[in-house]
Amino acid sequence: MKTDPTADAPQRPIVVLVSGRGSNLQALLTAASDEHWDRELQACIAAVISNQPRAGAIDVAREHGVAVHVVDHRSFSSRDEFEQQLAVTIDLHQPVLIVLAGFMRVLSAQFVHRYVGRLINIHPSLLPSFPGLNTHRRALEAGVRVHGATVHFVSKEVDSGAIIAQAVVAVDPDDTEATLAARVLQQEHRLLPRAVRHVLAGRVQCAGTRAVLRDIAPGELSLLSV
Ligand code: GRF
Repeated sequence: MKTDPTADAPQRPIVVLVSGRGSNLQALLTAASDEHWDRELQACIAAVISNQPRAGAIDVAREHGVAVHVVDHRSFSSRDEFEQQLAVTIDLHQPVLIVLAGFMRVLSAQFVHRYVGRLINIHPSLLPSFPGLNTHRRALEAGVRVHGATVHFVSKEVDSGAIIAQAVVAVDPDDTEATLAARVLQQEHRLLPRAVRHVLAGRVQCAGTRAVLRDIAPGELSLLSV
């Protein structure tokens, strides 16, 4: 009888930080439940940490039997104290990768430095355009013809850092903020699991302000949907 040599290999932990409904977390969990993902990467989502006690993402994590921690920023008197507790909670799991999937707190340079190269974020715009909030409204106001989403390594400046992957979405003349957001979100759900997979496989490395790719087919990390 053939046995799978990777079957009992230790799983490399990933920690996901969330604040909201958790649709990107769901996309990651779906990808991670695939046996090819498991065989190739030997990684699992070990824990989800939310700074919002009522985030929908908490239910998503529990439905999948993933450990949940709530580190509510409002329970701390300073950002420093909040981040210390966040770091203690992350470090419980010794993650190889920390994914910000709709995590809505700005992180200090000191915190980012602690996890540099293994902290990634998904942002709903084609960075470096539209960092910050209300990206879909601002894209419509600016009259851009294409918009999208970016997965990037986190650096000390907000929504900057080496770009790993981008998904482009065409803007329709009759788009509203809601319709555009919905189409971008669909692409986020394709983009984030891919980016995570390639980072975990060691095919993407953070080299300062740019990410270096190795053995990745053209188009893998640049999704176009028109
Ligand atoms: C996503 O659009 C993400 O890019 C942004 O916040 C949203 C989170 O959505 N940072 P969800 O919680 O993953 O559904």
